Amino acid sequence: MTVDPAAAALADSAFLRACRREAVPHTPVWFMRQAGRSLPEYRRVRDGVPMLAACRTPDLVAEITMQPVRRYGVDAAILFSDIVVPLKAIGVDLDIKAGVGPVVARPIRSAAQLDQLRELEPDDVGFIVEAIGLLTAQLGATPLIGFAGAPFTLASYLVEGGPSRNHEHTKALMYGAPDVWDELMRRLAAMQATWLAIQVSAGASAVQLFDSWVGALPADDYARYVMPHSAAVLRAVGEHAASLGRAVPRIHFGVGTGELLSLMGEAGADVVGVDFRVPLDEAARRVGPSRALQGNLDPAVLFAPWDVVAARTRAALAAGRAAPGHVFNLGHGVIPETDPEVLTRVVELVHEESAAAQG
Ligand code: CP3
Repeated sequence: MTVDPAAAALADSAFLRACRREAVPHTPVWFMRQAGRSLPEYRRVRDGVPMLAACRTPDLVAEITMQPVRRYGVDAAILFSDIVVPLKAIGVDLDIKAGVGPVVARPIRSAAQLDQLRELEPDDVGFIVEAIGLLTAQLGATPLIGFAGAPFTLASYLVEGGPSRNHEHTKALMYGAPDVWDELMRRLAAMQATWLAIQVSAGASAVQLFDSWVGALPADDYARYVMPHSAAVLRAVGEHAASLGRAVPRIHFGVGTGELLSLMGEAGADVVGVDFRVPLDEAARRVGPSRALQGNLDPAVLFAPWDVVAARTRAALAAGRAAPGHVFNLGHGVIPETDPEVLTRVVELVHEESAAAQG
């Protein structure tokens, strides 16, 4: 069997090794929402281009995805896109409003309104295949992370009609009309399994399932109403990768999920993303030895003086050693006003400290 040296270098990258819980030369680091947030070069290329139009333009997707890789020297790229892109692609009437987030024209609160959700076909999202092709050619040995919104977080936007503090309409549907809820979640899970399979086939090296808002639920409700659907997505993407003869690590992340961490791991993740509320050594106890962890510097800490940022970065690295594999990240996405220089310094510090600790 001939081994392609580029593919071998990619498979041997610190990020993929840490996801597989193998020894690493340094702790890999990337930042959620690293693409398209605080960078002036991002604002320049996005000038006058609406968010969802940018997500459908392969050249722009590739350029914005590459910007943080060039600037910060992170160990992985994350595809520039949004969790609502596949919904838009099947014709759901929605938009992303700057400073607000996704807004849906006709919220789904009854069985009849489910007709907005047809199956996703590869032809709906040819732009992502093209963008990933451009990216894998440029990235070389740097892994590309594909992603999708988890069924619950997408359902929350669809049912509420936009961002929500209390998720009251979502919970009313879930508890009041469980059959409609299950059908909604089933359709979303099928769509997200297809969306991730397309990204994996096109060349994504890992995937992250964002269940950003699932921390709104207690564990019992998570297990009954959400976990089977997230598990279906994670299982399907694992099977798809295996059918291609590849291992593609699956990262599973949510905010405020301290009480859900072990279940989120059991849903089928290789790596569990941890927000900043639970220290990584405690998270490792909750998740167990068979999964790596990702996290968890508080993104707001990046606004404090450098000595505080450095101390908190070192503390997260130290706590992360309790996990069988650690991918350094923030505990949630980069805040738009963050100074890019601080993120560059965090990457340098993570690399230096962790390389020294290995030696
Ligand atoms: O991580 C990355 O850098 C890749 C790009 C990415 C975006 N959205 C780009 C984006 C990713 C991974 C997402 C995922 C996403 N989108 C999530 C899960 C991650 C999380 O933060 O919990 C969620 C909940 C969404 C929904 C969404 N889309 C929100 C809450 C917002 C922010 C609204 C705002 O302006 O504050 C968006 C819009 C969005 N997604 C922008 C970007 C760069 C800003 C759009 C703009 O500049 O017009």
